[in-house]
Amino acid sequence: MRTIAFYSLKGGVGKTSAAVNIAYLASQSGLATILWDLDPQGASSWYLAGADQVKGRKLAALMDGKTPIGKFIRPSPYPNLDFIPSHTSFRNLDVRLDKEEDANLLKQWLGPLSEETELVVLDCPPSLSRLSEQVLAASDHVFVPVVPTWLSLNSWHQLRDFAKDHKLKRSRLHPFYSLADRRKALHRELVDDQERHLKGSLKTIIPNASVVEKMGESGRPVELTAPSSIAADAYRRLWREIRELL
Ligand SMILES: Nc1ncnc2c1ncn2[C@@H]1O[C@H](COP(=O)(O)OP(=O)(O)OP(=O)(O)O)[C@@H](O)[C@H]1O
Ligand SMILES: [Mg+2]
Repeated sequence: MRTIAFYSLKGGVGKTSAAVNIAYLASQSGLATILWDLDPQGASSWYLAGADQVKGRKLAALMDGKTPIGKFIRPSPYPNLDFIPSHTSFRNLDVRLDKEEDANLLKQWLGPLSEETELVVLDCPPSLSRLSEQVLAASDHVFVPVVPTWLSLNSWHQLRDFAKDHKLKRSRLHPFYSLADRRKALHRELVDDQERHLKGSLKTIIPNASVVEKMGESGRPVELTAPSSIAADAYRRLWREIRELL
């Protein structure tokens, strides 16, 4: 079983959109995939629950060890893809983790999934906190969407330094440009000199595209709603790059 995360301390950069599209493509390629929505906002749960919105389970049940993680799993409308829905109690995850010495709790929680699951995708809330340590420790690779702006680049540098301070391997962090809009001069400048501004990034750039925005309406991955779009192609290329790393 491999675990990947979409993480950034910055909000609204495309973590959830990437997590849902990549989890879908992974499941389509035959991997038994679970997407865990760690964000109390519950956006990826909303995408994957389809018409029947599900109620997640309280975090306390997992933390107290009373309920095995398997009981949190729900089927998505797609073959090979299940998910762990968010719950409002996840907003306390950081507070709860703050009391824990063990940086490998999340990793331990994921352990029992390994028998039947090939890929776990973590969709994380925007923060830089105890949860970050847990996510970085539990994930084989962390993918960081970066909008081509100075502010978003700055957030990436903060996460990179945080990982360094916590002695977490830089080689497991992979930034990639997200929501890139070539009509904007700054975006063009930062994307055209990607090697300098976003050193060691993935090659794929996720464009700012209305088909991704429309996932909010359709609730479905772009591979299903607009397979011939530039955005669907970008997510396919992103998935190929990720698969190479696994
Ligand atoms: N490539 C894209 N093109 C256009 N709109 C996008 C793209 N990616 C994401 N969006 C839109 O931007 C908003 C934020 O995207 P998303 O929820 O994926 O980001 P996030 O990083 O998970 O946000 P949060 O930090 O709140 O969890 C959403 O309305 C989404 O539809
Ligand atoms: Mg999100």
